[in-house]
Amino acid sequence: MGRFSRRLRRLAPPPRVVDWAILAVVASAVATGLLAWTGWLPPALLVDLHGIVGVTLAGLLLFKFARVARRVLDRGGWDRATPVSVLLGVVAVAALVSGAFWGLGGNVPLGPWTTLSAHVGLGLLVVPILLLHLRSRMRLPTRTDASRRSALRLGGLLVAGTIAWRLSEAAASLGGATIADTGSKPTGDLYDTETEGGSFPVTSWVADDPDPIDRSDWTLTVAGLEGEGVELTYGDLLAAAGDERRATLDCTSGWYTVQEWQGLRVGDLLDGAGVDASADGADTDARWVRFVSVTGYRWSLPIDEARDALLSTAIDGSRLAHGHGGPARLVAPGRRGFQWVKWVERVELRREPDPAQWLVTLISGFD
Ligand code: HEM
Repeated sequence: MGRFSRRLRRLAPPPRVVDWAILAVVASAVATGLLAWTGWLPPALLVDLHGIVGVTLAGLLLFKFARVARRVLDRGGWDRATPVSVLLGVVAVAALVSGAFWGLGGNVPLGPWTTLSAHVGLGLLVVPILLLHLRSRMRLPTRTDASRRSALRLGGLLVAGTIAWRLSEAAASLGGATIADTGSKPTGDLYDTETEGGSFPVTSWVADDPDPIDRSDWTLTVAGLEGEGVELTYGDLLAAAGDERRATLDCTSGWYTVQEWQGLRVGDLLDGAGVDASADGADTDARWVRFVSVTGYRWSLPIDEARDALLSTAIDGSRLAHGHGGPARLVAPGRRGFQWVKWVERVELRREPDPAQWLVTLISGFD
């Protein structure tokens, strides 16, 4: 161990170069991870970048740990900031290990959470602890740090990280792991579930958990830009529904499932209610459609995408169960599961998207 750590120290770029490279790599890992996971940008390229910076971070942390091992192991050398640094080390390593374990096909579920959920949680936890660490330990690089040699060593580390990432992907597919670009796995690989009329788990974003809805009481409001519109009963919706879509529900907790969804195309719903003049070629201000749940949870889609989405009342011919969003949920192909609003009670045209919808994803369902 002593010899390995001495060798690592000899190979390492100067301390401040390693530290600032760690900062850059952690920032990229958090950004690419969040953008891919929330579906903000198409995940295919981001997931590769995320993997490469993750493996590179592991290499940088090896350099760093070899450098600081002595001062951490010697309790006499601790000051007030050292416990935070040690905690940061533990959380960062746990985030890396859980990410690699998931990527290589592993999963140890903790209640409703998969190892991917644990990885996302640990990765986000790194941010505040790292900020605390920087408060006491940040040093600016000096001129001598920025040498050609440092740049070559960092470049070498990035190339090694890319190769290691490619190899790990090959190992994962040899091991039979079937991971989507979003990082999700097929439900059957993770759960053995036959739940409420759909062979996939019932999950809700954060805390949304309304009482089951009585279909004879439920109504769907379809509203135009000025609030004008119509109210449909469940019977009206069923009578109009005649569409079917094969679409993948891809949940941010790390699973996906392909299902046949039946319901009513949103474009037909809007036309039937007579609220979307743009369908007849008229120039209107309507650019977005917002879907609102009985819980207040909501999401908005650009109007063309929304018109093509489905308001689903059934899966595989069976009535949509309460847990899956019955009486009606949004099926928005290509979007992440948390955007497929459940228990929809209002569909309305808007001039703008709803900026508060991101906040609502975090607080909806909490009293
Ligand atoms: C995930 C990221 C990081 C981890 C896990 C980590 C971990 C540690 C640990 C365990 C120590 C030794 C205990 C101590 O002296 O407090 C340490 C020290 C230190 N860290 Fe970090 N650190 C990280 C990021 C950074 C960053 C981004 C910077 C600066 C840009 C930085 C600057 C320092 C400095 C200056 C020290 C003092 C020890 C020395 O220079 O040898 N660290 N870090």
